[in-house]
Amino acid sequence: MTQEELFKKLIAHCKEYGFIFPSSEIYDGLGAVYDYGQNGVELKNNIKRYWWDSMVKLNDNIVGIDAAIFMHPKTWEASGHVGAFNDPLIDNKDSKKRYRADVLVEDWMAKQEEKIAKEVEKARKRFKENFNEEQYLATSPRVLEIKSKMDAIHTRFTEALNSNDLAELRQIILDCEIVCPISGTRNWTDVRQFNLMFSTQMGSTADGANTVYLRPETAQGIFVNYLNVQKTGRMKLPFGIAQIGKAFRNEIVARQFIFRMREFEQMEMQFFVQPGTEMEWWSKWKDTRMAWHRALGFGDENYRFHDHDKLAHYANAATDVEFNFPFGFKEVEGIHSRTDFDLGRHQEYSGKKIQYFDPERGESYVPYVVETSIGVDRMFLQIMSAAYTEEKLDNGEERVVLRIPAALAPTKVAVMPLVKKDGLPEVARQIIDELKYDYNIAYDEKDSIGKRYRRQDAIGTPFCVTVDHQTLEDGTVTVRHRDTMLQERIKIEALRAMVDNEVSFRELFKKIKA
Ligand code: GAP
Repeated sequence: MTQEELFKKLIAHCKEYGFIFPSSEIYDGLGAVYDYGQNGVELKNNIKRYWWDSMVKLNDNIVGIDAAIFMHPKTWEASGHVGAFNDPLIDNKDSKKRYRADVLVEDWMAKQEEKIAKEVEKARKRFKENFNEEQYLATSPRVLEIKSKMDAIHTRFTEALNSNDLAELRQIILDCEIVCPISGTRNWTDVRQFNLMFSTQMGSTADGANTVYLRPETAQGIFVNYLNVQKTGRMKLPFGIAQIGKAFRNEIVARQFIFRMREFEQMEMQFFVQPGTEMEWWSKWKDTRMAWHRALGFGDENYRFHDHDKLAHYANAATDVEFNFPFGFKEVEGIHSRTDFDLGRHQEYSGKKIQYFDPERGESYVPYVVETSIGVDRMFLQIMSAAYTEEKLDNGEERVVLRIPAALAPTKVAVMPLVKKDGLPEVARQIIDELKYDYNIAYDEKDSIGKRYRRQDAIGTPFCVTVDHQTLEDGTVTVRHRDTMLQERIKIEALRAMVDNEVSFRELFKKIKA
């Protein structure tokens, strides 16, 4: 199965099993907007808890807030979003399709990397055990030719982005001979800037309505509350403010399912530090965040950092944590050193002093900020892509299993009476009553046990507990484990401790090793 086929299956699975539905589907959906279903919302809540607790509970110098989505319009002038939160767009005159010019060039680069990987594979087959990849990459004329072309484009591309040179961006697209995937032609318009913020009116027009924006990032809600939290919480530098909430961007190239949405959720933490220490903290947060991702156990090789060539208007250093999605390595999280840009600008635009008196240095200053910013939906997609597995079993049957880390699984235990009579459903209900205050539990009495196991595998339930006639005699049940499919018989009284040990967030947090 190709990665593309796998991704299509994953999208279908998300719908079939109540994880994700297209928004307002009965009206044929709304582009790049999605709803989370009964299982999706549970997984999403667990992701948010994993993030929130790892920030706010595990760090005594990080606190949380929940700011409003609507903010004073001046916020977005101060932050630079009104002037500079743009994407460079280009249209193909034949297909009339619109693309992000930078994404076209980035996709071209990715294709060159694929070409090199193919050359390596061909050479590996040819030279077998004598193959030396490093030497091949350094000497193969074909590889060197591709690399030198890529390097030249990369340099021009970075310069064009940094200097906002839209004509040069178009020229690069022409020079790389990039064609429109729909029309197959190179008949491109000029590149234009397009602002990504959604706007609406607050108040009636007669009263003189104000244009307000749907926030394109949650971070600004933290910056404008910096003084409130610092003062009321008597916070000392370094300290952090965390927030989870919706953000909105009018993405023109919306694709790859929930990877790029117009309405999405962010989990952001702004860490306020002494000026001059920001690089140290930036590097610390890089390690901490990477460890948070790796603790989920999807394989360290599936993560990498990608340092930014083009820095956002507010940053002096920035990196992405990238995950190996079915469509390649892509950004899940950004870790940015934002300097004193945001607080400084809010100080300027509001006319209010936003400073910290540092008792150690005996002076006041605008703190510097290191930010960690991750999309809940991208994290969701990361987990689903890594967890989705199709398996052929020893008996020739096939199963789809979601190997979601147990702490994040939507349902922790499914309790199943073997038959719908002889008092077995009643015992099953008693077990549920004992466990339901701590975990999400499902009850299932329909179809054969095999079919019930498959249903639970497909939504990632770590344990299935079967109540049978032996239960009535000795108070034991069969526990079937999702990943190994191994079964064991245990006492009903021992169930809670066993489940707790495997699904608790405590065990997951212990795995975070920076
Ligand atoms: N405050 C900084 C900021 O917003 P960003 O790199 O633009 O930085 C941070 O966004 C994260 O938000 C991304 O790494 C991604 O996970 C998520 N994100 C951004 N745009 C998104 C979109 N259109 N759909 C889904 N997630 C998105």
